[in-house]
Order: sequence, then C-alpha cells, then structure tokens
Amino acid sequence: MNTDELKSVATTLVSKGKGILAADESSGTIKKRFDSINLESTEENRRSYRELLFTTQGAEEFISGVILFDETLRQKSKDGIPLPEVLAKKGIIPGIKVDKGAKELAGFPGEKITEGLDGLRERLSEYRDLGARFTKWRAVITIGAGLPSQFCIDANSHALARYAALCHEAGLVPIVEPEVLMDGDHTIERCEEVTTATLKSLFSELKNHKVALEGILLKPNMVLSGKDCPAQAGVSEIAEATIRCFRQTVPEEMPGIVFLSGGQSPQEATEHLNAMNALGRHPWELSFSYGRALQEPVLKAWMGQAENVTKAQETFYHRAECNGAARHGNYSPDMERIAA
Ligand code: 13P
Repeated sequence: MNTDELKSVATTLVSKGKGILAADESSGTIKKRFDSINLESTEENRRSYRELLFTTQGAEEFISGVILFDETLRQKSKDGIPLPEVLAKKGIIPGIKVDKGAKELAGFPGEKITEGLDGLRERLSEYRDLGARFTKWRAVITIGAGLPSQFCIDANSHALARYAALCHEAGLVPIVEPEVLMDGDHTIERCEEVTTATLKSLFSELKNHKVALEGILLKPNMVLSGKDCPAQAGVSEIAEATIRCFRQTVPEEMPGIVFLSGGQSPQEATEHLNAMNALGRHPWELSFSYGRALQEPVLKAWMGQAENVTKAQETFYHRAECNGAARHGNYSPDMERIAA
C-alpha cells in the first residue's frame, strides 16, 4: 500500500469546485431508471447512456471521478476505447462499486446487511488492472418503529471497515457509504440521532481495522426529515444539523465528505450542499457523489433518443455546474434558468 498515492487520489476526488458522479447503478436499478423513460434496459442502451454522460464536453470542470458498475468498467465507447480510459483521458478518475447489494439481515426483520466480502481481494486486484483507482461500498440503515438496532449498525460498520482495509491493501481509495434512508415519517432529530450512532460505530470499526483515514472518503446521507414526516426541516436547519452531527463524529484527518442524494430532488441536493459550504470553513471538504440528483434531468432530456444526446449533455453539464458552484457556497437558484 502506497499511502501517498491513496492520499493523493482521495484529495483529488474532492478538489475545489468538483465532485463525483455516481453512475454505478446495478442492473436492477438502471432498469428502474430506464423504465421511467420507457426505455428497455439492454446492454447497448446502458452503454450508450453511460457514454453520453462520460463524453459530455467540459464535465471535467466539475466532475473529479465517476463510480462505475462492473459491466461499465468493461465496456467500450462506440470508437472502441474502454470507458474507464475515456474518463481518464479527460482527467476524471474511474471508480467502481464493489459491494454485492444489501440483503435481509437474518434474525433482524426489516434490517439489511451488505454482502460482497467473499472473493473481494481478488476482485479488487482485477478492478485496479482495469483502471479503477477508487471504490464504493454502500450499507443501508433503516429508521422505523424500534429500528435501527445497534446490532445492524455495528454489523454494517464491521463490513465497511473490512472492505476499506482490503481496498488499501489493493492500493484503492475506499468510499465508505453508510446510508441512513430518508424513507419514513421520522423527524430530523431522529435522523440526526441515528446518523450520529452510525458514524460513531463506523469510525470506531475503521480504527479497529487500522484503516488510514487520510486515504478514504465518507459518503453519508444528509441529516433530513423523513420523506413522510409532516414537519419538513428547511435548508438552513438541514445544513446546521448535518454539520453539527459530523463535527461530533467525523475525524479531521478524513479529507472529504461526498454526500449521496438519496431521493432529494436535484435542486434540493444542490441547495443543501451549498448551504453547508456557505456556513464557512470545515475540517473536511464537503462535496457530492450524486446519482439521481445528477442524472434524473439528464434521463428526461435524453429519453433514449439519439437526436436528444446534445440536449441531455447540456443538462448534465448544467447540473454538474450548479453542484460545482455549491462546493464554494456560490450557488444561486437563478442558475436554474438554462438557455433553452
Ligand atoms: P443517489 O445520489 O441517487 O442516492 O445515489 C448515490 C449512490 O451512489 C448510492 O449508492
């Protein structure tokens, strides 16, 4: 393991004004996204959609890295260039999702554990050969009546830490993603409590596993009201609660926090990130690693039609630009008026 290289990749991923595109939807998830535009999820449609995103002119001004799915890491552009190479040529770092999904946790109804540790060492070595320089593993924590259990939180933290240690051994920067879901009618206070417990458990396990925090990135949820909570917290309350929670739980050696969007609308995800960065200086970079919040409008602009590619790429550039501005706390809703 070369700690300097890991540190350098981690800090490059959170360079000023830039963030990560999560384009690592599994086959099941991308099918759902394509269903929303009535497009069949064939290998060729998935390939051309990802190529559309990756070849967007100027995207590299705001996008430092892209998380890919296994299939995409092995696909080529229509000109025959491997997609990870297409990204690397633009100065965008290719990454790879390495978990095998969240499954029912036996004995704990309603809770999940992420699988994928078996054989991970071998897969990581192949992914590095294919051009990946960082990875992602997502754990899912559900808030509900009597949930989550501390056991579920700890089991997921343990798996995240084992994954992170294996990534360092392989010379890859792990993004550790403990996602407290926004599904449910819980309050923002409950979300803060559960996120705090989750992050405490995670950093304690990372320490037990001797993971060098300088070479990892954290991908958490923001602290928000549950989707169905009647009292929805506003932008400044969300920004303050999120920062308060992280200041209590996230060590300063960790270079950056790259938020997931988790079901927020694209504009909300940008506004929340902007408000946090506008609060002043923080010990870590506060950035984005958005899937839906970067891609939803792009899919709608594209609709699977070749004649819409330019419009879809303009839409992607615009969303990336808005989030790039939010990295500096300089976003304004006026930016939403895109030249038609
Ligand atoms: P969302 O931003 O759509 O939550 O996706 C991010 C991600 O990578 C989830 O694992």
